[in-house]
Amino acid sequence: MKKAFGGRVISAGGYVRETAAGAIAEGRADAIAFGQLFIANPDLPERLRTAAPLDRYHRPTFYGGDARGYTDYPALSASA
Ligand SMILES: Cc1cc2nc3c(=O)[nH]c(=O)nc-3n(C[C@H](O)[C@H](O)[C@H](O)COP(=O)(O)O)c2cc1C
Repeated sequence: MKKAFGGRVISAGGYVRETAAGAIAEGRADAIAFGQLFIANPDLPERLRTAAPLDRYHRPTFYGGDARGYTDYPALSASA
């Protein structure tokens, strides 16, 4: 798709650290976007950079409700 498009591509959807790195290394994307994992890991770039463990997201709190599941996931520095 990137070859046919000819421009910069940001890919998203179900990526984890290893598959994101693979897509970049193989030239399938210029950048990778994260959704669900970013919700559960407010410091996701730092966790990916250091291969730190990731918090698991809690799908029932997606798409509405209150702050639970959006602003109460701890950063690594808070959970260490
Ligand atoms: C809670 C939540 C809300 C989202 N809302 C939208 C939206 O309104 N429009 C949209 O194009 N994508 C939306 N997405 C999709 C994300 O933009 C992103 O493409 C997708 O989550 C990437 O896959 P990943 O979560 O597996 O990393 C949403 C994703 C989540 C988890």
